[in-house]
Amino acid sequence: MKGIILAGGNGTRLQPLTFVGSKQLAPVYDKPMIYYPLSMLMLAGVRDILIITRPTELALFQTLFGDGRHLGLCIDYAEQDEPRGIADAFRVGADHIRGEQCALMLGDNLFHGANLPSLLRRTALKMSGCVLFGHEVADPQRFGVAEVDARGRLVSIEEKPSCPRSNLAIPGMYFFDTQVTDITKNLVPSARGELEITDVLRSYLDQGTAELVWLGRGVTWLDTGTHETLLEASTFVREVQRRQGTRLACIEEIAMYMGYITPDDCHTLGAEMSGSPYGQYVMDRARSFSRGMPPTALSEDL
Ligand code: TTP
Repeated sequence: MKGIILAGGNGTRLQPLTFVGSKQLAPVYDKPMIYYPLSMLMLAGVRDILIITRPTELALFQTLFGDGRHLGLCIDYAEQDEPRGIADAFRVGADHIRGEQCALMLGDNLFHGANLPSLLRRTALKMSGCVLFGHEVADPQRFGVAEVDARGRLVSIEEKPSCPRSNLAIPGMYFFDTQVTDITKNLVPSARGELEITDVLRSYLDQGTAELVWLGRGVTWLDTGTHETLLEASTFVREVQRRQGTRLACIEEIAMYMGYITPDDCHTLGAEMSGSPYGQYVMDRARSFSRGMPPTALSEDL
């Protein structure tokens, strides 16, 4: 399965922060925002990843991740010259997907919670049609919203409805089978001028192959699109990390845990940042892993 992180967009609501610089490189407490969606793909077992950015920022992402080899990944980059909508990811990324299955993560979405890693791995393994997620929110009119029937099955999808039919928002994390590039070829921009991801999801729904997976109360989903939510996300990460003594979205630790790199490799990556608590943590985790720390202690808490 291929992965895409959509990390373009104008970040209008975060101006002036986003006049020079990408929203997805803004700090969420101790690491760049993009570490969070990247960690989701890594936990799902997706290693061949395309990062789509604004032309002006592509080189910055390249400096951050290079070709991804140090994390046991293969990371490539593509430009989106205009924010033409989320579904544009499949047009910009068509050469990367090359008819394979694809997981799409929005670069400003952050997830944390019990059983999420195993849920991601299971989802990536049994893919046919598409999988979208539903998360209960207090203000569904801000999001794509899933309507479900009495048995919890997906009935309809609406983009930012003024009168939402449910409080189940659809977060920016989706899994698609091999049809997704063809479906996107036929899309036309919506009234707001964007290629809508909801139209792609609706095509699968019409075929009867769209599966909605509920993210329960044990999962926290944050988007970081406004100054308030960006600060909330940083505070959330800080609190969880401080209480647990672990780090969320620590991509070096995840790469080691997933077997993409060895504990020695992980230790070396930590040593390159040894002047920071983050680097010290990476080295500690590498040492613990070498001493045989049980993987289950790690697996549901990364
Ligand atoms: P949005 O929050 O819809 O857009 P934005 O990030 O540009 O912010 P604003 O609304 O304040 O202008 O985007 C959600 C995510 O998807 C975000 O990570 C940016 C990314 N995105 C793209 O990369 N390209 C696009 O064409 C769109 C619409 C979004």
